Formats: sequence, C-alpha cells, structure tokens
Amino acid sequence: TPPEFIRNFCIIAHIDHGKSTLADRMLQLTGVVEERAMRAQYLDRMDIERERGITIKAQNVRLPWRLGEQDHVLHLIDTPGHVDFTYEVSRALAACEGAILLVDAAQGIEAQTLANLYLALDKDLHVIPVLNKIDLPAAEPDKYAAELAHIIGCEPTDVLRVSAKTGEGVRELLDEVVRQVPPPVGEADAPARAMIFDSVYDTYRGVVTYIRVVDGKITPREKIRMMSTGATHELLEVGIISPEPKPTRGLGVGEVGYLITGVKDVRQSKVGDTVTSERKGADEPLPGYREPQPMVFSGLYPVDGSDYPVLRDALEKLQLNDAALTFEPETSVALGFGFRCGFLGLLHLEITRARLEREFDLDLISTAPNVVYEVYLEDGTEHIVTNPSDWPTGGKIAEVHEPVSKVTVIAPSEFIGAIMELCQGKRGQLLGMDYLSEERVELRYRLPLAEIIFDFFDALKSRTRGYASLDYEEAGQQTADLVKVDILLQGEPVDAFSAIVHKDAAYSYGNRMATKLRELIPRQQFEVPIQAAVGSRIIARETIRAIRKDVLAKCYGGDISRKRKLLEKQKEGKKRMKTVGRVEVPQEAFVAALSTE
Ligand code: GTP
Repeated sequence: TPPEFIRNFCIIAHIDHGKSTLADRMLQLTGVVEERAMRAQYLDRMDIERERGITIKAQNVRLPWRLGEQDHVLHLIDTPGHVDFTYEVSRALAACEGAILLVDAAQGIEAQTLANLYLALDKDLHVIPVLNKIDLPAAEPDKYAAELAHIIGCEPTDVLRVSAKTGEGVRELLDEVVRQVPPPVGEADAPARAMIFDSVYDTYRGVVTYIRVVDGKITPREKIRMMSTGATHELLEVGIISPEPKPTRGLGVGEVGYLITGVKDVRQSKVGDTVTSERKGADEPLPGYREPQPMVFSGLYPVDGSDYPVLRDALEKLQLNDAALTFEPETSVALGFGFRCGFLGLLHLEITRARLEREFDLDLISTAPNVVYEVYLEDGTEHIVTNPSDWPTGGKIAEVHEPVSKVTVIAPSEFIGAIMELCQGKRGQLLGMDYLSEERVELRYRLPLAEIIFDFFDALKSRTRGYASLDYEEAGQQTADLVKVDILLQGEPVDAFSAIVHKDAAYSYGNRMATKLRELIPRQQFEVPIQAAVGSRIIARETIRAIRKDVLAKCYGGDISRKRKLLEKQKEGKKRMKTVGRVEVPQEAFVAALSTE
C-alpha cells in the first residue's frame, strides 16, 4: 500500500474507559472479524489481563477502511495501559502518527490518560479527542468535552462522541482517523529501517516481533540485522495481522506487521531496537532505543523449599516473553533458596508473582521491594545496591543517591488536602497543581521511587475513597539520608527483614517489625530479644518471654491419642522451622511478617 493511504494510530485511554471495546467494534465494522466470530475483547488475550482488567502486551491489527471511493489501510497499534510500561508505551506511540484520546463520558480524564497524552504530544502525534460510553445515563458529554478541549487546546465541538458498546459514532470516528491523521513519511529507496515496538514469545513459533517500517522495505527472503547488538537473523516469515497472522511478500514504508526469525527469547528482539537488512543495511539506527532497566528489586522464595527448581524453570520461561525481568539466585537464612528479581515497577512485580503462582502452581514469599541505590563511600568507592545485604558496612558513607519519580495524581478537589498530606509524609515535593474543571484537580509531585513502591497506591486510594488516579515516571536521582535497618533475633540478623529506609523512618520501621515478630514467633525455652539496629546502634527492642510449662502439660488427664497428635503436629512443624542462631522460627512467622496485611 502506498504510504498516502496508510494511517497508523493508537488509542490512549485510562483503564476501563473502553479501549478494548472500541478496538473490538473497529475490528467488526471494518469486517476484519465477523460478528459471529466476535469474541468479547478480541485484542486482550491473556487471562491475567482480563482478570486484572489491564493490557500488558500489545496486540496490533490491520484494518481496511474505505472513505468515499478510496481504500485505506489503518494500523491500530495497541499501547500497554499501565504505569510500569511507560517505555513500551512510548515506543508504541513512536510507531504512530495519530492517537485517539478516549475518555469515559461519565468520568472524565484520569492520570493515566493525561500522562500518555503528554507522551503523545511530545512525539508530535495528531490527537483526536473522543468521549466514549455516551449511551450511559450518567454520561455528561458536554461537561467532559469542555474538559478535553481545555486540555488539548481545541473546541468542544471537535470532541467526537461514541459508544463503543452500541457502535454509535464509531464509523464516523474511523472516517476522522483517515481525514485527520497524517500519512506516514519515509524514504522508499533508502536502506530498510523498521522499529520494533513489541515482541512476544509464542510457544510454537518462537518470538514474534512487531515492527513499523520507517524507510525501505523488509522482504521475507533476506537476512536482517538488529542494530543495537549487530546480531543477524534469517527471516522465516514477514506478515500482517488481520486479525490472525498472514504472511506477505514484504512490508514497505509506513507499514506495520510482524517478523519471525526463529529466535527463542524476546531479549534478542528488543522493543525500541531498529531492524535493518544485513546487506546494504542502514548506518544509523532510529532514535529512542533504550535497554530495559529494572527499577524495583525483590527476593522471591518458594514457601516449600523443594519447589526451588520449579521456580527457576518458571522464571526462565517468563523471561522468554519479558525482556525486562531479571533474576539471580540468592540465599537467605530465614527463607532458604530463592531469587533476587528485578522489575520495571511494582505492578510488574505483582503481575510476575501472580503468574508464577497461577501458571506454575507455586506458593511464594517475596521480600519487601527495594529500588536501586548508589552508595558513595568517603574512600571514593561506589556501590550499586539492589539488595539491603549489599549495603556497604565497612567505611564511612559520603553520599547516597536514590531514584525519584514525577507523579501525576488526578482527583476530585475535595481531596487536595489529604493528597498533599500523604505526599509530604512521603518526602514529596509539589511541582504544580492545575484545575481540570471546577471539581477536579491535577497535582504533580516529585517523590522518591522507594516511597511510591512502599504502600503509596493503597494509601492514596484509601484517602480519596478510590477516586484518585495515579501515574508516575522516572525523573532521575537525588541524594538522600538513608540508612539500613537490621532486625536481630537474639543478636543474629534476620536477612529477609533488613531494609533501607530514610533516617527519619528508621525507628518506626524497626519498631513495627519488632512488634510484629514478637507476636508471630512462638515462645522458646529461653528469652529471645528482638532488636532493630542501624549499624551497631539499637533503635528498638521487644522480648519474647521464655516458655514456662511443657507443651504437653496443656493436655489434661491421660488422653494418649490427643498427646500423640500434639507430638506429631510438633514434629511436622519442626520440618518447616528455620533456625536463626538458637531460635527456632516457623516459616509461617516469616511469611506473615513479610506480607503487607
Ligand atoms: P483496559 O483494557 O483494562 O485498559 O480497559 P479498557 O479501557 O480496554 O476497557 P474495556 O474495553 O475493557 O471496557 C471497560 C468496561 O466498560 C467494560 O465493562 C465495557 O463493557 C464497558 N464499556 C466500554 N465501552 C462502553 C460504552 O460505550 N458504553 C457502555 N455502557 N459501556 C462500555
């Protein structure tokens, strides 16, 4: 297809504002999926996505559309919908010339929409504002059209109104995509350059790489080269998705499709990388490539130690489809053998954990997540700390750098006070505040990433009765006054509970953990002190008093069977006991102490 008849666009929307439903309707109206075959939410394939209502991996589809007498090809490029995937969103946007800004007509703009809108405007995409769900009785299209117009700087009458559910207005929307979104431009005769905006592992075919061709042509009978690594691959297939994969004889300027090379691991086909031909390839890659960087680390341990090999295999399998997931073996006194895993953010961690538990039937414990710190000692050495156990102990610390984020919160204005109080308590710095309308406000903060991954989401939701929405992106580093707090049982540190916290929060962390453990650890034959310490300084202390009576004394009389049962139970319990120094601790106590109730 000549570029002038191609339109590449994506849909930017907050969770639940109807992106998948609109995409379904478009598939149906363009005849790509027959009504009978119409599965609800065709584009969201993974179970877990459906369950949590989020889109993790993109699905991309080619739609034929006739405007007047002219046939066009529309490529709908799906953007992942959640905070941790900002880089992937930015690559999906970079593959488009236009974006539909889809907003629920009963809710208005939310933080995610706004954050992604800024990314789209930053990439100079043409934005088509659209209100969805106008069939709802609670819809207030006039009010929210004004809000949208105000934000993107257009007239309220430019805001289209649709119902993805009934299909009302969707044909007109497709027409407007053709009219308003600029066609792609590129050099047809130049060496091939295509951008990878997604890559997905498929059990049968290996990695399926989604590309947008910028210059030249990608044809099936050539070898390709990945420009970030220089690795070359045989092309087994080039094709388009409509909505099932269909092989083609090549993809030209502006076209969107997929490649199959037989590689088995998405890390060989990285989002943002440039694909070129092996022979007479391009010299310069397309701009914007970045290695995936884990930002949040946590230890993952099987509750049952014998599941360790299962966990390792499971992580290896997930990694085939997740270039951002990293892991390495780790051992813990309290938790046994496990892995230190790196994630893009908290949601990525949660999704990975949920998939491990569900798809591989594992029971897992995770240690408190932490971010990456750079610790500089006075002797000039630098330490990268992704685990409290890496915190340097010898030598004086000169400076610690921690990652910070730019946070956008949107909420009804009655909650401004509550939100400000929360953010200030989390070492936040107000960057700005704007009213989107009379009742709704956007607050922008600079906050340490460590504070966000702790319990920020939950605290924000509870303070705003669920009305606030949140988005965050990386914003460099800052120096901070941080310390490592250790938790000691009878003088022995319990590694899984060490944490890096701000100096002012050290006492409350230490105190909370010590109290929790006192309640969870059963009494022993002797007194057990629980202490929290920063270096050699004890900052909190609790005591588990010694048992006075033998456990069998609890059984009155001569009920032998009952006594035996109790002994057996004790024996079974022993198996899952961990020993810290002289203290025997049931594994459940560690699990309970680590879970954030
Ligand atoms: P994520 O994939 O989770 O980001 O959500 P989404 O934005 O794709 O939303 P989805 O399409 O799953 O729609 C969310 C809910 O809104 C579903 O229950 C839809 O049935 C409903 N919905 C979507 N569009 C409309 C509409 O036009 N009218 C009405 N009444 N409901 C709609």
